[in-house]
Amino acid sequence: MELIHGADELSRTTRSWRADAFEVGLVPTMGSLHEGHASLIRHARDEAARVVVSIFVNPAQFGPGEDLVTYPRDEARDLEVCRRLGVDAVWAPAEEEVYPPDAPLPEPDPGPVGETFEGAARPGHFRGVLKVVHRLFDLTGPCRAYLGEKDAQQLFLVRRMVEQMGLPVTIVPCPTAREPDGLAYSSRNARLGAEEREQAGCLFLALSEAAALARAGETDAAILVAAMGREIGATPLARLDYAAVVRDDTFEATTLLRGPSRAIVAASFPSARLIDNLRLPHAAEES
Ligand code: PAF
Repeated sequence: MELIHGADELSRTTRSWRADAFEVGLVPTMGSLHEGHASLIRHARDEAARVVVSIFVNPAQFGPGEDLVTYPRDEARDLEVCRRLGVDAVWAPAEEEVYPPDAPLPEPDPGPVGETFEGAARPGHFRGVLKVVHRLFDLTGPCRAYLGEKDAQQLFLVRRMVEQMGLPVTIVPCPTAREPDGLAYSSRNARLGAEEREQAGCLFLALSEAAALARAGETDAAILVAAMGREIGATPLARLDYAAVVRDDTFEATTLLRGPSRAIVAASFPSARLIDNLRLPHAAEES
């Protein structure tokens, strides 16, 4: 496995793979790799001939009071995980390689969807995500990029950026990897104390209740949202941030379940803020 640091090195490596007719799979990460990342990497391994994992804790997507400084970092362990999973190259750049001091980079606009839900809770977050992802795509060149459905709003905005800007990248959404109680893998789970961890399954329980209601024929999103709110509300250590039903094609909240949609939820525990989502069954699928 190659370990590369320079921006030019990343471009050279992927260019040489393509020159040898290998398809390039890119797995963008902020490190602290867990089972969720492993499933993205396996997915990439299965579909692309050469796989590069990027590891960069992107300051641009953290707000002033957020956990940039304390965000978990363990490069040695991450490299071991990548080696074990058969990754071909890891790109672990210094900040100057991603954001060269004297060269302004494109800053794709997340638009109004970037201001809702995670964007409302974390102002500027999606602007920072799109900036770094655009840079990554630019350096990597034509590739398949593997992103988790766990961050559904990020996935929506990255896909839309690729479409709107005509970037030569195929976005491959990957299903959320979960612990046995349904908790979605996330680097921030490591922060949860034992009691918080025990209760953190409430997000998946809430989403599962919403999905069960939809499966039973409920089309009023308010009923699903109320059920999710009740589940989180009954969890002593959790504070509901938002629960909603959004349309897959616009990521806008909907009041009526008609086409493909998703239940989304965010809750704060004393030591970590968690998000999750689940695709909802809808009437058109049953017939
Ligand atoms: O999902 C993440 O880990 C990050 O937002 C990403 C896509 C690597 C950009 O920094």
